[in-house]
Amino acid sequence: MIADILLTKDVNTISTSDTTDVCIIGAGVIGLSSAWRLSNAGFRVSIIDPAIGHGASWVAAGMIAPVTEAYYGEESLLKLSLVSADSWPDFAEELQQATSMSIQYLQSGILMVGKDADDMAVINELAEFQQSLGLQSERLSAREVHKAEPLLASDVQGGILTKVDAQVDNRLLVQALVSACNRSKVSFIHQMVREIKSVKGRVERLLLQDGTEILADKVVLAAGSWSSSIQGVPSELWDLIRPVKGEILRLKVPDPLSVLSHIVRGVAKGGVIYVVPRQSREIVVGATTYEKGFDTSVQAESVYTLLRDARMLVPSVCQAQFNQAAAGFRPGTPDNAPIVGRTSIEGVFVATGHYRSGILLTPLSAMAVTELLTTGTINGAMSSFSPQRFEKH
Ligand code: GLY
Repeated sequence: MIADILLTKDVNTISTSDTTDVCIIGAGVIGLSSAWRLSNAGFRVSIIDPAIGHGASWVAAGMIAPVTEAYYGEESLLKLSLVSADSWPDFAEELQQATSMSIQYLQSGILMVGKDADDMAVINELAEFQQSLGLQSERLSAREVHKAEPLLASDVQGGILTKVDAQVDNRLLVQALVSACNRSKVSFIHQMVREIKSVKGRVERLLLQDGTEILADKVVLAAGSWSSSIQGVPSELWDLIRPVKGEILRLKVPDPLSVLSHIVRGVAKGGVIYVVPRQSREIVVGATTYEKGFDTSVQAESVYTLLRDARMLVPSVCQAQFNQAAAGFRPGTPDNAPIVGRTSIEGVFVATGHYRSGILLTPLSAMAVTELLTTGTINGAMSSFSPQRFEKH
């Protein structure tokens, strides 16, 4: 649905003020879920993106893995992730109810496994780290991992089971959020925002790719990796968010017996890999991590490495049909954590920089954005993730 917009006297300026309270830049899962929540809270919302839902949200694997993706030095992000993971079952239920669409939220658990002694040293260190943080994870012997997941390669030596980690089909999630937004009368504008125009420290309009200007007095910047590169963004966001490329493969296994019953992650002779099974028999193999600007090509080397490492853990992946190789950009930040809050430009709010955790942090981010626009402040777990944390004192 294109926004119901009114032309003013200036032919290039469009006033959405009669139809829109909030403009959201970026229709990934963060922008879409915020739009849905804001709309349900009584705001009239327009969301602007040239390719609705087709950025990182579309390429993601859909893991909701606070425990398996807990990293050293990121304990405050872990707390945030655990809160968001806890809110996922209700969020999924509510979205499914609102749209009558399944998003395949499954608490399938993650098996993190190792192939050789060096790989097992990494796995054991990770288990110790998880246990030192009081996280729920269980070490499994070689016999136990094979019992839990018979499709693992016979020489897998052992692993960790984290039952609380889950997944959602990210593409179904995107489709359901678009549907929920449509049902909640969110307007979609299929354009790229070139510039946020402010006067005396207050946002006034958005300049779109085709030269049109939209009047806007409340803007949520949720443009993922592009959030620092739109002209006129608040100065504290300049150079803060960078694209971290990730390539994934999508395969389809031939029969239901070849479907893994857990997400399998692992270290295979030093290579870090994940294999995410869907009930639809699709599997997502990922992911590379490197920085090369906004280059969307998929390297042959990456396809080779992903398949090689996945096959070392789950040999049957090579009997699957090859459906797609794709690249996306994780919005990286200096501390790998999201940026959600108000900015130095009055009327501009930000919800971006979710790096590896966009899907995981969707429910909590949407809630925080709604709280921010409704009450002017964020309480709770997300309150420590404002852009002000990067201010140099
Ligand atoms: N969270 C998975 C990834 O970033 O590849």
